[in-house]
Amino acid sequence: MYKNPSSSPLLEIEGLSKNFGALYAIDHLDLHLDSDGITGLIGPNGAGKTTVFNTVTGIHKPTSGRVLYRGLDITAWPAHRVANLGVARTFQNLKIFKRLTVLDNILGAQTSLPRMASWLGKFRGKAADKTATDAAEHALVMVGLADRQGSLAQELPLGEQRRLELARALAREPDLLMLDEPAGGMTPQETEDMAQLIEKIASSGPSVLLIEHKMSLVMSLCQNIIVLNFGQKIAEGDPGVVQSDPAVREAYLGSERDHA
Ligand SMILES: Nc1ncnc2c1ncn2[C@@H]1O[C@H](COP(=O)(O)OP(=O)(O)OP(=O)(O)O)[C@@H](O)[C@H]1O
Ligand SMILES: [Mg+2]
Repeated sequence: MYKNPSSSPLLEIEGLSKNFGALYAIDHLDLHLDSDGITGLIGPNGAGKTTVFNTVTGIHKPTSGRVLYRGLDITAWPAHRVANLGVARTFQNLKIFKRLTVLDNILGAQTSLPRMASWLGKFRGKAADKTATDAAEHALVMVGLADRQGSLAQELPLGEQRRLELARALAREPDLLMLDEPAGGMTPQETEDMAQLIEKIASSGPSVLLIEHKMSLVMSLCQNIIVLNFGQKIAEGDPGVVQSDPAVREAYLGSERDHA
């Protein structure tokens, strides 16, 4: 099951398909992600971007194909096992608990850590709980929500709720961070702040795979961009290459025609 980990990309997707009935949401997709920087995953609405995230992170089982993480075949692994490998994500539709505090949203999500904490706690008093709390607080400082940790999540404006979800992913100290439209619904200023934050996070450690519709953000942040349409990869390259690719232009124009 293992390839040589040192020569393996961080994430490899090989011939991956995901059908919903007759619909190929992902259609024989190949994708390689190296272990640093920010990679964009873009494409018109319904192109299959979120389905790729869901299939990698164990929410959907693929219909066929393989997913490898550092050479390890993790195809169809359940979500908690994928998360425990160091893969964290955010959701396009926020999945925060609005009636919990900011801090509890993060602590509650560290599913493996509380379990470890309760096990270790028998031997070490409260030290293990402290580890989880330290990671949560560090993540909140990173996203600029340190002074909001006692607030209820529902009291935060949307921009801060998205930051909270990002903090929850960061608190797991991932090696691969998958962001699904982190600037969705944000004002231009919030979007600019989010761009700076993503850049800071990526330079601090994890590789980032970024789904985003806001092209200015994608083009300024990503070294490499993968373009999907109808579940297939239609282009890949740096921002200049992708922007001038005729297939990419046609995909976006076509989708505008469909929505006109
Ligand atoms: N659980 C599901 N059941 C049935 N069809 C689904 C399901 N999830 C996604 N689809 C369909 O699969 C296709 C790809 O959806 P997906 O959400 O991956 O697109 P996307 O690229 O993330 O789009 P957007 O930019 O609008 O978020 C769409 O046609 C969508 O309707
Ligand atoms: Mg989506």
